[in-house]
Amino acid sequence: MALLSVQDLVVRFHRRGSSKGGLRLPFGKDRDGASVLAVNRASFELEAGEVLGLVGESGSGKTTVTRCILGILAPSSGQIRFQGQEIQSRPGLHGGRIQSVFQDPMTSLNPRMSILEIVEEPLRIHRLGNAPARRRKVEQLLQSVALPADFLDRRPAELSTGQRQRVAIARALATDPCLLIADEPTSSLDASLRVYILESLQALQQQQGFAMILVTHDLPVARCYCKRIAVMLRGEIVEIGSAQEIFEAPRHDYTRQLVALVGSHAKEKRKKDAPSGL
Ligand SMILES: Nc1ncnc2c1ncn2[C@@H]1O[C@H](COP(=O)(O)OP(=O)(O)OP(=O)(O)O)[C@@H](O)[C@H]1O
Ligand SMILES: [Mg+2]
Repeated sequence: MALLSVQDLVVRFHRRGSSKGGLRLPFGKDRDGASVLAVNRASFELEAGEVLGLVGESGSGKTTVTRCILGILAPSSGQIRFQGQEIQSRPGLHGGRIQSVFQDPMTSLNPRMSILEIVEEPLRIHRLGNAPARRRKVEQLLQSVALPADFLDRRPAELSTGQRQRVAIARALATDPCLLIADEPTSSLDASLRVYILESLQALQQQQGFAMILVTHDLPVARCYCKRIAVMLRGEIVEIGSAQEIFEAPRHDYTRQLVALVGSHAKEKRKKDAPSGL
């Protein structure tokens, strides 16, 4: 049995004040601009311990899919099963077994809380351990993301962006999740930090064995860190396959365009980097 199974997921947002109310329009039809079909019959499965890349242009529906998996958003139709049980739209329903890291650590961390309180919070929410045990766990978690223990009393504003993102990762791993959803976890970071955070996530994933959905618009990042890649276009998963299949034998036109774009960027870069006179 798959760890996660998403079947025919549909999410349609209705604009506030729309006269259509809850009325469903046929797929792809948005005649009066009153609704947006953000996810259109998306289906995929994820095995325990597997890393799946979810790629696609801005607005293609990646975050919306993950919000449904997290139980933050109720789908219009379709089914999501986690460990065989249907996910309902109530965050935290899974006892912390699904956790997430978002793009911007500044907005995802409460500025008034100390790092100890932030990382400890999921343990308190899920009533895991007493205060001394929770503190020990937080210290271990900070160590696992290479942050010194004396950061415990600091507030997010006293940390660099990269350090904040490591706090967000420590917090997400506090409840020993089976599935981590990382939604563009490095897009607010500079290039060297990006690699550092992605490699830290990969090392933690390999040590702890949780499954991961890595949302990114960067296909080379997905190739580097994910075993399988799902490609989204205008709400649909148009292609899903191993990273090798996606790069070496893309089947959908859009995937072919994405792969070609990566190739031409790489060529441009090689030309730029080549010593003059060659
Ligand atoms: N709460 C909402 N209300 C109305 N429309 C929404 C809402 N959330 C998302 N949308 C719309 O749904 C579509 C998909 O958005 P989503 O955030 O899932 O895209 P994305 O692939 O994550 O994009 P990005 O790469 O920019 O993060 C977009 O057209 C977006 O405007
Ligand atoms: Mg998004």
